[in-house]
Amino acid sequence: MLRSLIHKTDLLRQNGIMNAVQEILSDPSLSILDIGCGHGQLAARLKQDNPQWQFQGVDVVVQPECSISVSRYDGVTIPYPDDSFDAVFCIDMLHHTTEPEILLKEAGRVARKWVIIKDHIADSKWDHYVLTLLDWLGNAGTGVPLPYNFLSSLEWQALFDKVGLKEVQKLDAIRYWPGIMGQAVDRHYHFVSKLKTGR
Ligand SMILES: C[S@@+](CC[C@H](N)C(=O)[O-])C[C@H]1O[C@@H](n2cnc3c(N)ncnc32)[C@H](O)[C@@H]1O
Repeated sequence: MLRSLIHKTDLLRQNGIMNAVQEILSDPSLSILDIGCGHGQLAARLKQDNPQWQFQGVDVVVQPECSISVSRYDGVTIPYPDDSFDAVFCIDMLHHTTEPEILLKEAGRVARKWVIIKDHIADSKWDHYVLTLLDWLGNAGTGVPLPYNFLSSLEWQALFDKVGLKEVQKLDAIRYWPGIMGQAVDRHYHFVSKLKTGR
């Protein structure tokens, strides 16, 4: 019962993120590295809608049924040379790391054009509590690291500046749930940003 609810919620999450990603990324053909791809379903569904998007995943925990090609790595150094991919995705991944700055720098190094971030915004202690609960519910039992490293809007901006990535588009208040549920549950917690590399 709880597992089926979590699965349904994950599909709603994927739908919300897919809409946002496709709104900000119009390139018909892209090579994409999905850092922290998890079960890979989001990438596989995006590929269905965009057949010329080629995905490769890396993760610290490889899920046995991953829907895309994935390799395990050390969580710090992306095992690809500079400019290997047109775009790099960090989807609901950076808040699972304790060193988002190092990882984002790495994302910018291997991306030729874009780094796409989907993550959470925690501008208050209350936001932090709510996101911690939701993160635990969504990931318990998967072996995924849970440091609950949620950043505020200002911290995200400072991080992008620090690693030399320029935010060219941001969609905030992404909704997973329809109607009043979205207002109550999703609030202002989810954003997608399109970052341009310095090249
Ligand atoms: C909530 S899941 C998101 C999975 C997928 N991106 C999605 O949105 O469906 C977070 C993922 O980040 C991964 N992760 C945690 N730390 C990481 C790191 N340092 N480098 C890469 N992936 C990491 C976890 O193993 C997990 O698969």
